Amino acid sequence: MLLVRKPEALDAAYIPDNLKLREKEIQAIEQAVIQPLRSGSSNVMMVYGPSGVGKTTTMKFIQKTFGDIAVLYENAIAHTSMRQVLLDSLNRLGRINPSLFLSYESIFGYLNKYQARTGKKILLIVDEARNCLRSDPEGLRIISKAHETFGTMISVIFVSIENPINFVPGITGNMGIIFSTLRFRQYDVEELYSIAMERCRIALIDEAYDEVIVRYIAGMAEQFGSARVAIELLQKAAHIAEYRNSGTIGSDDVRAARAMINPFFTESKLGELDIDELIMLWTICRCIGHGVRTNVSCVSKMLSDTAQSFGVKLRKSMNVYRVLRRLENMGLVESRIMGMGDRKGVNKVIEINDLPVSVLSEKIERLIRGIA
Ligand SMILES: Nc1ncnc2c1ncn2[C@@H]1O[C@H](COP(=O)(O)OP(=O)(O)OP(=O)(O)O)[C@@H](O)[C@H]1O
Ligand SMILES: [Mg+2]
Repeated sequence: MLLVRKPEALDAAYIPDNLKLREKEIQAIEQAVIQPLRSGSSNVMMVYGPSGVGKTTTMKFIQKTFGDIAVLYENAIAHTSMRQVLLDSLNRLGRINPSLFLSYESIFGYLNKYQARTGKKILLIVDEARNCLRSDPEGLRIISKAHETFGTMISVIFVSIENPINFVPGITGNMGIIFSTLRFRQYDVEELYSIAMERCRIALIDEAYDEVIVRYIAGMAEQFGSARVAIELLQKAAHIAEYRNSGTIGSDDVRAARAMINPFFTESKLGELDIDELIMLWTICRCIGHGVRTNVSCVSKMLSDTAQSFGVKLRKSMNVYRVLRRLENMGLVESRIMGMGDRKGVNKVIEINDLPVSVLSEKIERLIRGIA
C-alpha cells in the first residue's frame, strides 16, 4: 500500500513553501543584512548552530524570497579558499571556467559588471564555511572589504556549526573585520512535533499517520533537537510500513527507522573536521578494518604513513589523545580503557559503532582529496 504521496517532501533538500519557526531568524537577517545592502551598505554575518536546525533551509528560503537581490548560494564543504568559492559563484553567473589564477581584482570586476547589467546587489551565502574560514582568513578580510576596495556591493553570510569566533584565530582582533552573528538553536519537542506533522500533511496520505505516532517521532528527535532527524525518521518509517503492506505507520516502524538512521554521521559533521582530524579518523577506520575495534598504539603507529599516502603534512603539535577526544565529543568514535590480558597492561581502545567503517572511510577519503 502506498503511504507516501509526495516523496520529494521527505527529501533532505526539500524547501517548504513557508518556513515556520525560523521567522525570527529570517527577520534578523533581513534587518542586519538585506536592508543595509538595499540601502548601499555591505556587511558580513556569521550564522551558526548545531546540525539539523534549519540553517541551510533558511538560507535557501532567503534565496527564494528576496528577488530584488542576487542571492548566490555556495556549499563550500570541499573548499579551503575564498577565491574558490568566488570562482564557483562566477561560474553560476555564467562565466564559464574562470581560471583559478584570476586575481581578486578581476573577480570583483566581473561582479561589478554583473551588477551594472542587472541593477542587483549581491548577497553571497557560503554554507559549510568552516574549512574555508579556517584556512583562508585573509580571503575573508578581502571579501569583507570588497566594497571599499573594488566598489562591489556585496554582503556575505557564512554558515557553520560552530561559532567562527572559536576556530578562526584573531577574527575579533586585529584583522579589522566587522561582522554580526546569529545563532540557530535546537528545536524543542513541540517544534519538532509541528515540523513533522506539517511534513506528514504534505507528504503522506491522511490514513498513514496520527498524532500519537508523530509525537513518538518528535520525542525520538528531541535528543538531537534536529528537524533532520525527525524528518528522516518519518521518511524511513513510512517506507518500512509500506514495505510490510500496512496502511498506517506503526511504532515498530519508527523503531526500525531509528535503528537505520545516523544523526551523527552527516556530511556536515565530517566537514567540521580539519585535515589532521580527518586523517586520524581515516587511520582509525583503517586500523579497525574488518575487526571490532582498534587501539591508540595502532593508530599512533600508522598515522604518519597514512598522512604521507595522502600527501598531507600533519601539524607538528598534533596530539593523538586530544584529537581523539574531539572525535569522541563529536560522537564520531567511542573509546575506553581496556585490559589487554594478564600483565600486558591497559590500552585505550577505539570503536566506531554507528556506521559501517567502509562507508565512513570512503566519505573521509573524498573530503581529504578535496582539501589536500
Ligand atoms: N523550521 C523548519 N520547518 C520545516 N522544516 C524544517 C525546518 N527546519 C529544518 N527543517 C528541515 O529539517 C531538515 C534539516 O534542515 P537543514 O538542512 O536546513 O539543517 P542545517 O542546520 O543546515 O543542518 P547541517 O548543519 O547538518 O547542515 C531539512 O529537511 C529541512 O527541510
Ligand atoms: Mg546545512
